[in-house]
Amino acid sequence: MDLVHRPRRLRRSEPIRTLVRETKLSAGELIAPLFIKEGRGLREPIDTMPGQFRLSSDELVRESEELWELGVRAVNLFGYSTKKDDGASEAYNPEGVIPNAVRTLKKALPDICVQTDIALDPYSIHGHDGLVIEGEVANDETVDVLCRMAVVHAEAGVDWVAPSDMMDGRVGAIRDALDEASKPHVGILAYSAKYASCFYGPFRGALDSAPRKGDKKTYQMDPANQREAMREIALDIEEGADVVMVKPALPYLDVIARVRAQFDVPVAAYNVSGEYGMIVAAAERGWIDRDKAILEALTSIKRAGADMILTYFAKEAARLLGE
Ligand code: PBG
Repeated sequence: MDLVHRPRRLRRSEPIRTLVRETKLSAGELIAPLFIKEGRGLREPIDTMPGQFRLSSDELVRESEELWELGVRAVNLFGYSTKKDDGASEAYNPEGVIPNAVRTLKKALPDICVQTDIALDPYSIHGHDGLVIEGEVANDETVDVLCRMAVVHAEAGVDWVAPSDMMDGRVGAIRDALDEASKPHVGILAYSAKYASCFYGPFRGALDSAPRKGDKKTYQMDPANQREAMREIALDIEEGADVVMVKPALPYLDVIARVRAQFDVPVAAYNVSGEYGMIVAAAERGWIDRDKAILEALTSIKRAGADMILTYFAKEAARLLGE
């Protein structure tokens, strides 16, 4: 054949493929989500997420040191709590599981970027991200509680708070509350386009936080919508988000790509628990190669346009990247 263009020329050897590779993944852009529980020496396996654990603060330090050595320099903490009430009061207890863990971790590893989840679901009996008033998740009343929670976490020493609740106006309110509390340097990683997804199932098992009644469709987004995600992102940026997030990641790569194209702020993507579970389960059955699937999935999320990725594979991926 008389061909001018033979794209295969650039795929002939690994050195050539490396030269022309468009997307390179590195440990420094991964964020490890970790589940924290009160106690000492606790490393409790999570049934719904094989390979993940509920950690006490001392174990959190050990885990974070390991991550740090591998090049992962950011953790995102979720609190496991048995102290649940209708007002989610444990969410803003300055001596609660998360503020204590943040202080312990920052003492041991002052430079690690510590992020904390801001939402009420692990601390409420009903399992919703906000306060339930007369059968509805009440927006403005919830925002007040989220602001208290964010300030408590800021005072404990977090670098970023990460509101995952999807209430309207919470980014702006949290920004004001942080500034008023003299914490202008604390950043906001906003779950801006968070979909009402079935892929959060294993996570809710980890925190025992599934909604007791109903679903989260009155605040999390309809999976069918892309334009609405752009509105949510634009609003959060206006309100002061430092980083915006799309969640989940793999079923929403089109959303990540469009956010990347349309906005100039850093974009995070959350490779959620169900995405983790699909790879773990298929690999367990011998249907896919676990290591290759992890790197391919994370590379795809980066290729779509994410600057940083929250993933339960952070440690494993960092190890693979270092090999
Ligand atoms: C709740 C929250 C959820 C996740 C992060 N924060 C679950 C939900 O919205 O029900 C999901 C993370 C995952 O599935 O890995 N505020």
